Amino acid sequence: MPAVTSGSTRESDGRPAYEWRGLSLDVARHFFAVDDIDTLIDLAADLELNRFHLHLSDDQGWRIEVPARPQLVRRSSSGAVDGDPGGFYTLRDWRHLQDHARHRGIVLIPEIDVPGHTNAALHAVPGLNIGETPKAYTGIDVGFSTLHVDAPETEAFLRDVLGQAAEMGEGWVHIGGDESHATPRDEYEELVRMAVRVVHDAGARVIAWQEAAGLLESGDIVQVWADPLSLAQGDEQVWADDLSIEGVTAASHRGVGVLMSPASHIYLDMKYAEGDRLGLTWAGTVELQRALEWDPADIVRGVDPASIVGVEAAVWTETIRTFDEMISMLLPRLAAAADVAWNGSGVGRWESFREDVADLGEQWSAEGLAFHRSPGVDWRD
Ligand code: ACM
Repeated sequence: MPAVTSGSTRESDGRPAYEWRGLSLDVARHFFAVDDIDTLIDLAADLELNRFHLHLSDDQGWRIEVPARPQLVRRSSSGAVDGDPGGFYTLRDWRHLQDHARHRGIVLIPEIDVPGHTNAALHAVPGLNIGETPKAYTGIDVGFSTLHVDAPETEAFLRDVLGQAAEMGEGWVHIGGDESHATPRDEYEELVRMAVRVVHDAGARVIAWQEAAGLLESGDIVQVWADPLSLAQGDEQVWADDLSIEGVTAASHRGVGVLMSPASHIYLDMKYAEGDRLGLTWAGTVELQRALEWDPADIVRGVDPASIVGVEAAVWTETIRTFDEMISMLLPRLAAAADVAWNGSGVGRWESFREDVADLGEQWSAEGLAFHRSPGVDWRD
């Protein structure tokens, strides 16, 4: 199993502050073709990121071939949000992406999100349901779907899909665990424990969103997304009761690594500013300076700083349909996230960053990338 070093080194000796420097991409709400992912892997590598996390399943679509469960892609891959076209990766596609990523120094991380965010699986596999099999879903609500402990296929399904994910991953499988609002608490715990066990038995380590913090074991990673600031800034009431902020703190003191993806700073699907066409605002708006000026050690009070394995920007695709739209949301903010991952806290570093990012902008222009011209930077075009 891989090991990760925790804690910011905060050294200027050419070594990164954090070992885990990632980008997470939702290909379930809208699907992005292999060529697009190849280009995004190159972009991540250029910014010295070393993890690329693909969110491969959600309510709207199942995006990875599972030979043991062919109905998943047969029945649940063709759609996307708003009835847009979907798609899926074959295992051969996955190996291509993995080889490409490895060549660029990046580990590809597969996420199969359970027990919520599972409408696509429930639609494809009738035996995952207790009552009726649900219809395909093309909206953007969250929190209405769930696996069931007592459905006949649940355990075998987890073994099939997470066992395969363990084979696909390079020692890491992300099991989701977020926003399972429709799952009774006791079932949530049982289902997440089942998922953790399958991944561990397959010789891999688990990553899960913060709601599952209390169910992870030493050597696993909890990924923080709904940071206290995002909840305070947002314009929607996010399900706050089970966000397990205290669970994250406790986990950090018993050997669980903490990966920081605070929505209020590095959810790159947040709008830059009110009134933008693309993006959401539930965690507030995120302009470039906000993506830079934060400290991973300050996100969750009481977290053991030595447990923080890294920083991972995330982009969810409810509103993002095309490659150019994706680029306009990622850039320039991904450069800020990568800077924090490499150098540690970005607080007080705006003046030097805004000069450096103008140089990057020149390269992006030369490459024809449709990046967002954030205010406060002297872009050279
Ligand atoms: C998440 O944004 N629900 C992890």
